[in-house]
Amino acid sequence: MQKKIINDAMEYARLLFRGNSDGHGFDHTLRVYRTAMEIADSEPDCDRLVVALAALLHDADDYKLFKTENNANARAFLDSQDIDRDTADRICTAINAVSFSRNRDRCPELLEGKIVRDADRLDAIGAIGIARTFAYGGKHGRTLDSSIGHFHEKLLLLKDMMHTDKARELAGIRHAYMEDFLLEWEKETAGKDD
Ligand code: NI
Repeated sequence: MQKKIINDAMEYARLLFRGNSDGHGFDHTLRVYRTAMEIADSEPDCDRLVVALAALLHDADDYKLFKTENNANARAFLDSQDIDRDTADRICTAINAVSFSRNRDRCPELLEGKIVRDADRLDAIGAIGIARTFAYGGKHGRTLDSSIGHFHEKLLLLKDMMHTDKARELAGIRHAYMEDFLLEWEKETAGKDD
C-alpha cells in the first residue's frame, strides 16, 4: 500500500515539474527523496511514509514555480489517496519547514521536517550543488563570478545548519568537495601578471 502511494507521488511530482530543467525540477525532487530516505534509515523514530511523501511533495507548492496557496498541490495529491487527515497534516507541516526563505534558522518542529530539510539542503552542496548553482546562474543571466559569490553567501554555510547526524556526516563530505573546487577555481582565475 505504501509503495503504491509513494509511486503515485513520484508520478505526480514528475508531471508537476515537467519541462523544468534549472536544477529545481523532478530530478531534484527525486534526489531529495533518496537522500531523505537515507537519513531516515539512521532515524528509527521517524515516520517513513511522512518523510517519503514530504520529500516527494516538498517543492510541489514552491512559490517560485507555482502560484498556489496552503499547499494546494500537495493537498490535491494527498486528498486523492487513502491517507488520514492527521498524516496529511504532518506531511504538510514537514513540507512547510523546508523552505530556506520562509524559515531561515527556525528549527522544524517535526523530526520528519528536519530530515527533509536536511535532504533539500544537501542537494544544494557538493558536486550537485556546484552544477545547480551554475545552471541556475546561467538561466538568470548571471556571470560565473556572481555564481561563485553564491557559494560564499549561502552554500558554504549550509553544513553547519543540518539537524540530523547523518546529514551532518554527508554535508561534511560535500562541503570539502566544494572547498576543493573553490581553491582550484581561484588558482585557475588568479591574475597571471604578477
Ligand atoms: Ni527543494
